[in-house]
Formats: sequence, structure tokens, C-alpha cells
Amino acid sequence: MSDNGHDAERRLRDRSAGPEGAAAPAEPGPFRSAEWFAREGKYGFIPRSWMKSQGFSPELFDGRPVIGICNTWSELTSCNRHLRDLAEHVKRGVLMAGGFPLEFPVMSLGEPLMRPTTMMFRNLVAMDVEETIRANPIDGVVLLAGCDKTTPALLMGAASCDIPTILVSGGPMLNGRFRGRELGSGTDVFRLDEEYRTGLLSKQELGDAEAAMSRSAGSCMTMGTARPWPPAGRGDGHRAADERLDPGRRQPARGAGRTERGANRRAGEAGDHDLADPQPGRVRERGQGQRAIGGSTNAVVHLLALAGRLGVEFSLEDWDALGRDVPTLVDLKPSGRFLMEEFFEAGGLPVVMQRISEKLRLEAPAVEGGTIGERIANAVSYDDDVIRPRDRPLTEQGGIMVLKGNLAPNGAIIKPSAATPRLMQHRGKAVVFSDADDFRARLDDPDLEVDADSILVLQNVGPRGYPGMPEIGSMALPKKLLEQGVTDMVRISDARMSGTAYGTVLLHVAPEAAIGGPLALVRTGDMIRIDAANRRLDLEVSEAELAARRVAWVPPAPAHDRGYGKLFIDHVTQADQGVDFDFLAGKSGTPPSKVSF
Ligand code: FES
Repeated sequence: MSDNGHDAERRLRDRSAGPEGAAAPAEPGPFRSAEWFAREGKYGFIPRSWMKSQGFSPELFDGRPVIGICNTWSELTSCNRHLRDLAEHVKRGVLMAGGFPLEFPVMSLGEPLMRPTTMMFRNLVAMDVEETIRANPIDGVVLLAGCDKTTPALLMGAASCDIPTILVSGGPMLNGRFRGRELGSGTDVFRLDEEYRTGLLSKQELGDAEAAMSRSAGSCMTMGTARPWPPAGRGDGHRAADERLDPGRRQPARGAGRTERGANRRAGEAGDHDLADPQPGRVRERGQGQRAIGGSTNAVVHLLALAGRLGVEFSLEDWDALGRDVPTLVDLKPSGRFLMEEFFEAGGLPVVMQRISEKLRLEAPAVEGGTIGERIANAVSYDDDVIRPRDRPLTEQGGIMVLKGNLAPNGAIIKPSAATPRLMQHRGKAVVFSDADDFRARLDDPDLEVDADSILVLQNVGPRGYPGMPEIGSMALPKKLLEQGVTDMVRISDARMSGTAYGTVLLHVAPEAAIGGPLALVRTGDMIRIDAANRRLDLEVSEAELAARRVAWVPPAPAHDRGYGKLFIDHVTQADQGVDFDFLAGKSGTPPSKVSF
């Protein structure tokens, strides 16, 4: 615990425990931390002694629950750089409720810096979280996350531990502003880059915009990959969308600390866990929630992986089938016009939840007490242009479509709200790039044979191929077409795309090219048909020809022959399975472990 944490502990003890200055008495509970801290002799002496060396008071070892605060703060993860401050407020909440908070770091995943892609390390962080919790005297955990992959990684790891868990989102950053124009994270980078490449923006102007886009800590303020998680959690959605990075953000963090201690008490008594309650309805509700907010395509692989950890039957097909009648209500970039500040001021997630309330289990308990129904009952919309009423949606059909066919036997996905409607029914000639390097090298080649009806195909950028399934599926358009005024084309790959990106982009093709999926057999000039209405994606090449190409196909050399990279390539599952490791599905709980001395 930092010095600040000790200050908090002292202040809270003084404030809430009366003149004796003793912390609120703990309720007895069968907590696993007692295996460390309540033992007689050397087995209790050693853990207590070393912890007391940090200044922790003796009463903290009186049988109260230990609440881990799992922190992804890092200067390498700019979006999460405020989480140490939030952690102090969670600690206060835990102390106020009579728990013993212990903060611990795990590997952090900063989207803008990490290479080859943060997705390659999501499972590693999940392992870090899972094993850190299991190996230590932790009875419940508060997860502090924000930047894209930090949230699913922490949820997946905690899910496999089966202990009471609450997620505190770091919230979005402030809206970007540049010359009277709002700039949305990511989304406007793609636009600015196109303007720069076609000479509409100077280098100086691009540099000025760069300095104006990211104005604070917090995650991307568009409806990017970081955004769908607050509604995926079970709690106070309005606070999850809270723009404020001032004390307004800290109060809910403190509330989470108090609640976690309470949830832990209930868990000890009645087995009422949050993540540990694997009801299929919860995962499905989360999928429907994505539709209403126009959530990122990345939520598909993360929720599939989380369902796998929880043992919930939830498939790629469910993504398409669930909530086909749930429209996109939130008018946020990249599908719409606004950013998270406007969303929060319009009333935030409680309004969205209220407007799709027939799809939710309103009797489900909310994290902060009461039921979900009670928490959203009085939600008020302050701007129906930002959060649309059901009879005036942004798009009638939101969410994710799953297409299958001989080009994607196990599925490919598309986000209709980010696509051009006329391109959802399309037939065009493939222009194939064999990998990301080939794409970058030839995209702007004046001799590239491509027109607005062509379909760009990118191979070998899937889970094993890249490896790590990077967010490069929303391939930039060829410069010569941009100069002709082309703004969208059909693009197909086994990659993901940023939640901030847009376009008629078919992603997550499974099986991927690097393991011999049909995507590997496509050649420039082949005709491809997209029939989104009938959920079809087909390569119009005869079976005989495809069989001949399959025989001639040579798999790409693996990118790694040792270390974590090899572990990843050897064990990662395909996109339709959640891109988790095959040996990590399910959960192991926190069984009693052996002492080491
Ligand atoms: Fe961190 Fe977008 S870069 S959430």
C-alpha cells in the first residue's frame, strides 16, 4: 500500500470507527485469506510479519476479507494512467466497509504502443490475473481497467478464479477538439489520415490535430472497444459512462470498494457471486446491450472467450440471432455523430437500458444494491438526438451480423451500422494481399488494378497468422480511389478492426488463412459475393479448383519458435471460439493450496 493508502486508512479509521480509532469490527466469515493470516505458529507469523512491515495495523488481520485491487496503471498505457488515483478511492471504500484492501499490479496493455498487437497479450494478462489471485490471500477483487484489452483480460482471469468480482472502468477521455471541430479517438484519425494522404491537410495541420485529440486520461471517447464493457458489467451504467476525471469519477470507485466488501460477505454466506454466476441470460443480455449501443466488433471475441471461462453456452451464431430486433439507439462515432461527453450528458447507459428494458432481466441484482430494474426506473433522457427513442433509432438493425459460406465456413462478422448499405449486397473482383507487409507495400501502387467495386482481401492476419489478430481489418483505401472520391469499399480479412473504425468491413474470417482456411485460397481476380440479407459470404470458384489450390497451398512459417509467442501460436483458438487459449477454457476456482515453507 502506498503512503496515500496509509493516509486513507488512518483518516477512515479516525472518521468512521469512533474515539478508540479502531477500524470497524469485521464480521466473521469463512474467508480463504484466513488460511494465511489467521493461522497459529510460523504459518501465520510469516505472512502477518511481512505484511506488517508495510505498516498495516494488527486489526486488519482479524478475519476480515481481503479485497484485491487489480490495477492496470502504467505509463505505457496512457488510457489507464489515472488508475492509481482511483485505486486509492477503492481502498477507502473497502476500509469503510471493514475489509482489508491490497492493491496489486498486473501487466497492462496499452493499445497505441504495444506490438504486434495487444490482443496477443490479452490471454497472458488473464493468466497473470488468475494466478495472482489464486496464489494470494484474496477473497474478492475489484478490477481497475480501461484501455481496450485490459478489461476483457481482467474479467477472463477473475472469471476462472470464481471469486466475487467488480469491474471499475476508468471511463472515457474528454472529447477531442480541433479548430472548432470535435475529434473522436481513432475514428477521426482515419479521416485525417485520408485527408493528409490526398493533400487536403498539411503536415503542420495534421500535427496540430494530433496534439488536440487526446485531452485527458481515460479510454477512447468514441464507441470503441473500451466502451461496451460498462454495459457488459452489472452495475451503475451512468457512472461507467461518466466523463469526469475529477472527484465525480472517484466516488463510484469508492462505492465499488464498499460494495465489493459487501458482495464478499454475501459470497461467504450464500455463494452469491457476480462473475461466478454463469447464467446464460447474463451473457446474452450483454450481447443485446452491444446492439443498442452500436458496440465494437471486438466485443464478439471477448464475450465468446468470457463465456468459455464461465462455462456458458454462447456461440458466434448467438451474436447474430440475439436481439435482431434491437436497433442501435446511440448516435456515437464511428457509426454516428457524437462522443462520450454528449452521451453522458444525455443520461448515459441507464437511458439505453430503460429503452431496451424488455430485453433485460430487470430482477437481476445491481452491483450497488437493489435490482437492475430499480436502478434504471428513473432514468431520464436529456437529449433524444444522442440516445434515440425506439421509434427513431440510429439504425433499425444494430449490432453484429454473422455471415457464412464457402469463404468463411465458421463465420465472418460485419457491423452493419458502420457499413454502406448498398455494399452489404455486393459482388466484386478480389484484390488479394498475402499479408500486412504486402498490403502496405502495394496499396498506393499506381499500377494496382483496383476500382470502387473491387473487394480488398487481406490474408494471414488472424490469430495464428499475424500472430495476434491485429486491428488492421479496416484496410485503408487505395490512394487513387480516394482521389476519385471513393469513401468505402468491401474489405475482407481474418483480422479484427478497431472499434473506432468504420466501413463495409468483413472481419474474423474463420478458419483463418494461416491454418489453411478458404481465405488462403483466394486469388486476385476471383469473384466474391456478399449477401448480408441472407448471411452469405461466398467465393465463386469451383470446388475442383479450390481443391487443386488447397493441394498447392504452403502454410506460412510460424512467426515464433520459442517463448510466449510459440505458446500463443500453439494454443490460440480461432475467432469463432474467442481467441482464448485452448487450455484456459473453464475455471479452477481457488482451491486450498500447499504452503511453501
Ligand atoms: Fe486505449 Fe482506445 S487506445 S481505449
